[in-house]
Amino acid sequence: MDKDFPISGWSSLAVHGGHTQDPMYAHQVPIYASSTYVYDTAEQGMRRFSGKEEGYIYSRWGNPTMTEAAEKITALETFGVTDRSANPIQAKGILHASGMAAISTLMFATLKPGDKILTHFSLYGGTDEMVEKILPELKIESVITDLRKLDGVEEIIKNDRAIKMMYLETPANPTIQCVDLDELSKIAKRHGLIVACDNTFATPYLQQPFKFDIDFIIHSTTKFLNGHGTAIGGILLGRDIEFMKTKVTKVHRLLGGNSNPFDAFLLIQGIKTIELRMERHCANAMQVATYLEQHSAVAKVNYAGLDSHPDHRTAIKQMKHAGGMLSFELKKGLQAGIDFMNKLKMCVRTVSLGTCDTLLSHPASMSHHGVPKEQREKYGITDGLIRMNVGIENVQDIIADLEQALS
Ligand SMILES: Cc1ncc(COP(=O)(O)O)c(C=O)c1O
Repeated sequence: MDKDFPISGWSSLAVHGGHTQDPMYAHQVPIYASSTYVYDTAEQGMRRFSGKEEGYIYSRWGNPTMTEAAEKITALETFGVTDRSANPIQAKGILHASGMAAISTLMFATLKPGDKILTHFSLYGGTDEMVEKILPELKIESVITDLRKLDGVEEIIKNDRAIKMMYLETPANPTIQCVDLDELSKIAKRHGLIVACDNTFATPYLQQPFKFDIDFIIHSTTKFLNGHGTAIGGILLGRDIEFMKTKVTKVHRLLGGNSNPFDAFLLIQGIKTIELRMERHCANAMQVATYLEQHSAVAKVNYAGLDSHPDHRTAIKQMKHAGGMLSFELKKGLQAGIDFMNKLKMCVRTVSLGTCDTLLSHPASMSHHGVPKEQREKYGITDGLIRMNVGIENVQDIIADLEQALS
C-alpha cells in the first residue's frame, strides 16, 4: 500500500496498516528468526550503535516482525485522533512479551521512589498485585479508590502531592466496571499527572483513549488483538515520541521484556480481522446478556451494554459498543457455579479471554480460589459469579449450550 493512500476504514487499516514491503517480495511479513543483525563494515556497525544510521542491532532491542505488529497497533490507536489544533496525533508503540511486561516498563520508566499511583479498586489481578505488592517494596505506593465517584477525585489529588500517575483500566477485568476517561483525564491533567489506560478489554476498535488526552496505553495483546489465543504479548504506546524513544526504550531494553518474531507474526495475522471479530463479539454478547438477564437461575448480569449496568452511560459515551466480556451471578452460589461449568458442552472452560471461541471461568473455584471470600466479595467476585468471553460462534449455539448447562 502507498504510504499516502488515505485509508478511511478500520478493516483497511487493520489489514494494511504498519506493513512494510519485504525486500524479498514476500506477501506476508516474514518471521525474522534472528537474534542479531550484521554490518557491511565496522563503520556501519559504529553508525548503527551511535544512532546515526537506522537499522536493527539485536532482537531484544527490536526486530522487523515485532516492528510491524507495533506499527499496526499504533496506527489503530491513533486512527482519526486529532490534537487540539486538529492535527493527526503521533504515537510510538513498543511490543512486549506480555501485557504485564508492558505495564512493568511503564511503571519503571515513569515513576521513582516516593511517587504514588492513583487507581480504581477493580483492576486486572496481576496489575493489582504489582501495584499493591511489588511497587511498594520500591517505595512507590498507591492510592486505591472508586474512580467512578468523580466528586472525590480532585480532593484526593490535591491532598497528596506525591501522586504522579493516574492508572485506569476500562472496562475492568473481571467486574466490567467502567471509568470515565474524559472526566478523569481532565482532572488528572489539571494537576499535571501522567495518565495511563489499559485498553485490553475494549481494543482500539471500540475505544481510543488517546482521544481523551491519555498519555500511555497498554494492551495485553494476548486477548482480542491476537484474537485466537495463540500467543502471549503486550504493547505500551505513548504520545511523547521523544520520551518513548529515549527513557522508555532504554527501560524496555534493559528489563528484557521483549516480544519475539513468532508471536508478533501471529498477532499481525489476528489483528487483520479485528473489526469483523469485535462486531460479532459485541452483537453476540448483547444477545447473550439479554438472554441471561431473564433466566430464573441468574441473579444478576454485568454487561456494560445493558441499561441495568451501573456504568452503562460511561461505557456508551466512550465506546463504540460495549465489548465481548460479561459476567453473571448464579442464584445458588458456589456449587451451582461448579455444576454449571461441568455441564458445558461447546463453550470452553478456561481462563483468559479475547478468543473466537466462547470461554467461561468460575473465579471463586478457579482464578480467585486462594482469595478469602470476604476480600473477593468486596470486588464483586461472589461464589456464583461466572465470567464469560462471548465468542464469535453462531449465537443460537452459545445460548443453547448455556440453556442446557443452566437447566
Ligand atoms: C486487562 C488486562 N490487563 C493486563 C493483563 C496482563 O496481560 P498478560 O497476561 O498478557 O501479561 C491481563 C491479563 O489477563 C488483562 O486482562
